[in-house]
Amino acid sequence: MADPYELLKARYGAGQDAPSIAGASLNPVLETLFAHRSVRAFLPDPLDPGTLDLLIAAAQSAPSSSNLQVWSAIAVEDASRRERLSVLVGNQKQVREAPLFIAWLVDLSRLQRIAQQRHQQLDGVHYLDTFLMGVIDAALAAQNAVNAAESLGLGTVYIGALRNKPEQVAAELGIRPGDSVYPVFGLCVGRPDPDRPSAIKPRLPQSSVLYREQYAPAPVEQEIGSYDEAMKAFYAEQGMQASVWSEHSVARLRAAEDLKGRHRLREALEGLGFALR
Ligand SMILES: Cc1cc2nc3c(=O)[nH]c(=O)nc-3n(C[C@H](O)[C@H](O)[C@H](O)COP(=O)(O)O)c2cc1C
Repeated sequence: MADPYELLKARYGAGQDAPSIAGASLNPVLETLFAHRSVRAFLPDPLDPGTLDLLIAAAQSAPSSSNLQVWSAIAVEDASRRERLSVLVGNQKQVREAPLFIAWLVDLSRLQRIAQQRHQQLDGVHYLDTFLMGVIDAALAAQNAVNAAESLGLGTVYIGALRNKPEQVAAELGIRPGDSVYPVFGLCVGRPDPDRPSAIKPRLPQSSVLYREQYAPAPVEQEIGSYDEAMKAFYAEQGMQASVWSEHSVARLRAAEDLKGRHRLREALEGLGFALR
């Protein structure tokens, strides 16, 4: 077992204090969580038989709002479909490399089909909160699958860029307009390539994400603390291009065109069958 204290030091990075966990009892689940890193370089090896079933069982073990289970997943193993999807998500090579790509869906069509079969109405499908339920359910399910995969020594990376071209992605995945099904993000799963390893990426200090009792943000400089410096050190250590977290994070959301196609999400969702009232 890796030393969880070392993992936590890496989680908060150079120059930042790791939270005190003295006295907490550590276990392999915590080790898996603390050791997380996204993996973008995979070996071509297929996964062991049964892995997909296991990941989906982990996903289905996540809580679900009112147990509605308004999510589904599409496992894509076909290399040519992964190739086409990699192009649709901005040529992200990891979608081609990893032997398994899972598209996680908000799926309200199952309940719609049940209601239709019973000649009942299902107006709730068209409200924003119901859509949000699907997104939350899908995210919780997917993250359980991520934790399961990592506990098996597999690597994963989410692909939010699946939302950049929602109609084309839906068509590639056999989802029809009006189905009330929406691919919310993808997940690459495979064996990490040991020759191209990834590292634990530091996070903001706990003082900037945890408030007690009431929301009370500190002045910005204090809030970011030494995080920009910790990230600079991380990028340098990884031989990655220098970048200032606070600057590139603001730039990422600066204007509609920075959203990479996602600024027209409402329109795309309407086409896919979500009125979002
Ligand atoms: C919903 C979501 C979407 C993401 N989309 C992408 C993506 O399209 N491409 C990518 O390379 N990484 C993607 N990531 C991975 C993040 O960049 C990564 O989690 C973040 O930089 C933190 O790094 P870490 O996961 O290694 O700790 C996504 C992560 C999440 C949670």
